[in-house]
Amino acid sequence: MDWLNALLLLVLVAGHTELLITIVNRTHGLPIHVGPLRHFRHLDDLMIPLFPVLLLWRVGLGGPGLLVGGSWHELSLGWTIYLTICGCGAAGIVWSAARWWLQKVPAQQTSQHSRILKIDESLGDRPFGPGPYSYLTKVPFNEILQVEFNEKTFQLDRIPAAWDGLSILHLSDFHFSGSLRKPFYDRVILECEAMQYDLVVFSGDLLDDVALLEWLPSTLGKLDARLGKYFILGNHDWTLSPDRSRAVFQEHGWQDASGEVHAIEHRDHALLVAGTERPWMGRQPDFSKVDASGFRLLLSHTPDQLPWARSQQVDLMLAGHNHGGQVVLPIIGPVYAPSQFGVKHVGGTFWDPPTLMHVSRGLAGKHPLRWRCRPEVTRIVLTHGTSEP
Ligand SMILES: [Fe+2]
Repeated sequence: MDWLNALLLLVLVAGHTELLITIVNRTHGLPIHVGPLRHFRHLDDLMIPLFPVLLLWRVGLGGPGLLVGGSWHELSLGWTIYLTICGCGAAGIVWSAARWWLQKVPAQQTSQHSRILKIDESLGDRPFGPGPYSYLTKVPFNEILQVEFNEKTFQLDRIPAAWDGLSILHLSDFHFSGSLRKPFYDRVILECEAMQYDLVVFSGDLLDDVALLEWLPSTLGKLDARLGKYFILGNHDWTLSPDRSRAVFQEHGWQDASGEVHAIEHRDHALLVAGTERPWMGRQPDFSKVDASGFRLLLSHTPDQLPWARSQQVDLMLAGHNHGGQVVLPIIGPVYAPSQFGVKHVGGTFWDPPTLMHVSRGLAGKHPLRWRCRPEVTRIVLTHGTSEP
C-alpha cells in the first residue's frame, strides 16, 4: 500500500466533491424551476460517492495501480487532465476556508449584540411537524429551534444625522413547510412584537407549502411599524402562487416592494424603499424617477444582486436566501449556498462601496437543519457617521 498516493487520491476526491458542490451552488442561484433543479441535484449528489469508487477501480488498484506501487507517469491523458482539475477543486476548498476565517465585520457595523431564544424551552415542546425532510429535525445538535436575535448598528455617511437611532426589523426566509409547526413562528412573532422598530421588512421565501399561506395573517400580519412594512418574495414563493401570497401580504398592511421604489419622508429626508426579486420574478426598481438625494434601501431576496445595487448607488441592501449555509463545518466553514458567488455571502454584513449589504441567515429553510448556523432575526439600527478606516 502506497500511503502517500492514498493521501493524494483522498485530496483529489475532496477536490472532485468541491467541484460538484460548486456546480450545485451556481445552478441553484439561477432562475431554474424546482423540478429540473431537483433532478440535477440528485444526479450531482450521486456523482459524489461514485467518483471514489471509480478512482479506486481505474487508478488506485487497476490501471497504473497508484495504491500498489504504480507511478503517476502511467496515468492516461484523460485521467491526468481530470485529476488536475480535481487538484484545482482541492485548492478551492483551501481558498474558501481561508476566506471564511479571514472575513472581517466591516467598520460600518459598529456594534452587534445577540441573544438566543430556545423555542423548545420557551414552549415546553419541540414544535416539529410532518413536513418534508422532517427527519432532519432528529439530527444531533440541530440548532433549528435556537433563534438568534441580533441587534446590529450600521454607521454610514449617507444616513442623515436626524435619523440617528432609526431601526429596521429585518425578517427573512420563513419557509412555512409544516416541518416546523406554527407555534414556532408564533413564538418568534411574539418576541418581535415586544421589540421597538420603525420599519419592518421581509426579504422573501415565505412558503414551501401554499396551503400554509393561511399562517401569514396571525404571524407576519400581526406586526406593525410606524414607517411601514415592506416585503418581497423569494425563489421558493416563485412557483407557489406568488400572486396569492402578494394579495394576502397586502391585505394585512404589507406593501409590495418588488420592482417599486416607495418614497417615505422622514424628518425632512427621503427614505427610498425598493425591492427586487430578480432573477426569478419582476423587474428591477427604477430609481431615476425619485428624489436622487434620498437614502436608498433595497430589499433583494438574493445577495447576488449586489453588483446591480452598487451600480444604482444603493446605500443599504437587505437580503436573505443563503441561510448562512445552514451547515457550517469545522475548519472548512459553510459549503452549500445557492449563489453565483458560492459561499461568499452566506450571511452577515458586507461593505462593497457604495453599498452596505446585510444578509440574514433567515428563520428556517426547506430543510429543517441548522448546524453551527442558528436561525436569525435582526434589528438594524442606523446612525450617521464616517466609518471608513
Ligand atoms: Fe430561503
